[in-house]
Amino acid sequence: MNAPLKTCVLVSGNGSNLQALIDARRSGGLNFEINHVISNVAKARGLARAERSGIPTSVLDHRAFTSRDDFDRALALLICTGKPDLVVLAGFMRIIGPEVLEPLRGRMINLHPSLLPLYRGVDTYRRAIEAGDEKHGASMHFVTEELDGGPVISQVVIPIQPGDEADSLAARLSPMEHRLVVATVEFFSRHRVECMDGSVFVDGSKQEQPLQLQDNDRLT
Ligand code: GRF
Repeated sequence: MNAPLKTCVLVSGNGSNLQALIDARRSGGLNFEINHVISNVAKARGLARAERSGIPTSVLDHRAFTSRDDFDRALALLICTGKPDLVVLAGFMRIIGPEVLEPLRGRMINLHPSLLPLYRGVDTYRRAIEAGDEKHGASMHFVTEELDGGPVISQVVIPIQPGDEADSLAARLSPMEHRLVVATVEFFSRHRVECMDGSVFVDGSKQEQPLQLQDNDRLT
């Protein structure tokens, strides 16, 4: 078996997706480890979750920096010090600038609560409901300079039900996001996915469509 994938997770808030990764790791059989959790918010619950599990944490408060570039440089240094194989943005509410992206291109992925390319940015649940969509979901994509615009690796789809409001839809999507994050990181840990020339390759073949999370938690 290859060495465990060294994973760094960035959070700004609750950290339930981080918790899903911690739990999956603890239940065994997966070849990744979470070596570092970083937050731009000192009070982020995600930091406490990591600390409880003995994972090293760091806080880098963006408000302590006079410019976005300075923050980005410090963040890049902080991430790269741990030499991660993969960086997972799981509810990290800062735009990733070029200083961070460059050293980590192809190794940084983001979880976004929509079926990208639909609904980049915020408020995705409300926008999907108001558009009359029949389904919603979450995507994991490679981070590029375009906000929520990088090549999409994997998705999970759920139906929008009559009477759904943003909160009810978010609550139903959340456990599915957890499963998507774990399955996607697991894919990376087996070195099955990479980004080349702006496309996603799985097992060496270019993907025309994102991988889909199946009921058995496999991505196909
Ligand atoms: C998730 O809904 C994710 O899609 C979005 O931020 C939320 C993070 O939730 N990017 P948590 O902090 O992991 O609980």
